Amino acid sequence: MSHYQKPPELYDGLRLHQNENTGGCSPKVIEALARLRPDQIGFYPPYADATAAVARYLGVSVEQVTLANGLDEGIMAVAVAYLRAPARHDPFEAVVPEPAFEIFRFDTAVAGGTLVQVMPRSDFSFPLDEVLAAITPRTRAVFLTNPNNPTGVAMPLEAIRTIAAAVPSGAIVFVDEAYAEFAGLSFIPQLPAHPNVVVGRTFSKAFGLAGLRIGCLVGAPETLDPIRRAIPVYSVNIAAVAAIVAALQDLDHLGNYLRQVAESKALLYAACDRLGLTYVKSSSNFVLIGAGNRVDALVQGAFDRGIYIRNRSTEPGCAGRIRIAAGIVEHTQRCIAVMEEVLCAAR
Ligand SMILES: Cc1ncc(COP(=O)(O)O)c(C=O)c1O
Repeated sequence: MSHYQKPPELYDGLRLHQNENTGGCSPKVIEALARLRPDQIGFYPPYADATAAVARYLGVSVEQVTLANGLDEGIMAVAVAYLRAPARHDPFEAVVPEPAFEIFRFDTAVAGGTLVQVMPRSDFSFPLDEVLAAITPRTRAVFLTNPNNPTGVAMPLEAIRTIAAAVPSGAIVFVDEAYAEFAGLSFIPQLPAHPNVVVGRTFSKAFGLAGLRIGCLVGAPETLDPIRRAIPVYSVNIAAVAAIVAALQDLDHLGNYLRQVAESKALLYAACDRLGLTYVKSSSNFVLIGAGNRVDALVQGAFDRGIYIRNRSTEPGCAGRIRIAAGIVEHTQRCIAVMEEVLCAAR
């Protein structure tokens, strides 16, 4: 498997290609960062307050939460903890319904696991029967994302319960909830009845903290234990600690962004209807748009005008599709104006 190709470092235009909050974080976060003292930066960071704040926000106890340097680090720790097979043992398998966050594939390879991909249905509805059929006695992890990236489609929580009941003993079901705030749906309240499920959350997206790198894993302490051991002891830095405490004290900032996301998605759907593009209704802060053979013209035309959108054509089931973040309304309007200009010029 080839290495993960990081998107190019484009910071001089409008970044709608990585599902970030293009409005940025709460001003309260900036104030908290400015209040950091030299001695706090000189010391290894304390985690009790940040963990308590995150646990309160998610409605769980502190024992059920582990902070990570971005959810990316949490996913790598899950792979290392659950997919590394003992010597002379057949590789463990990771089941991944596609199209999926590509990091699952790369982390499975790094941990020495075998990837078992489940191909998508044409409408991107959750392929429960196909996932169940892919589970074997060697399955050690099932990687789910709810709502999914890059489709934005949410899966029924019932499907997660069914998969959790079907995996072999010792395996875990990982539910990546990077975009849960936008869907208003989470498996977290159901975790007590399903100790083999671990939920991943990030503060990169809805809270606009991607640059500070903070996420978390939530689950039963005994299931989290091997994962905790795979996370470096001080991986979350003091700036992220200060930021998350402040961000969680400003849920109005979050509410404002969520309202703009809903409006932006409606604007994008209407633009697609006008422009003859297809789309998948999204429960997230981005929309997967079908542009067929106009993909390259659209991505390049937007790029030339300083707007970055993501060609997802090479992802399973996504030929002819691009993914566009739908967040700050003014940014969505700029993107739509450019899409109209590019597509009309191409006629
Ligand atoms: C499904 C999914 N999980 C995890 C992440 C990464 O989150 P973080 O920024 O916390 O590493 C992303 C970012 O794009 C994502 O789409």
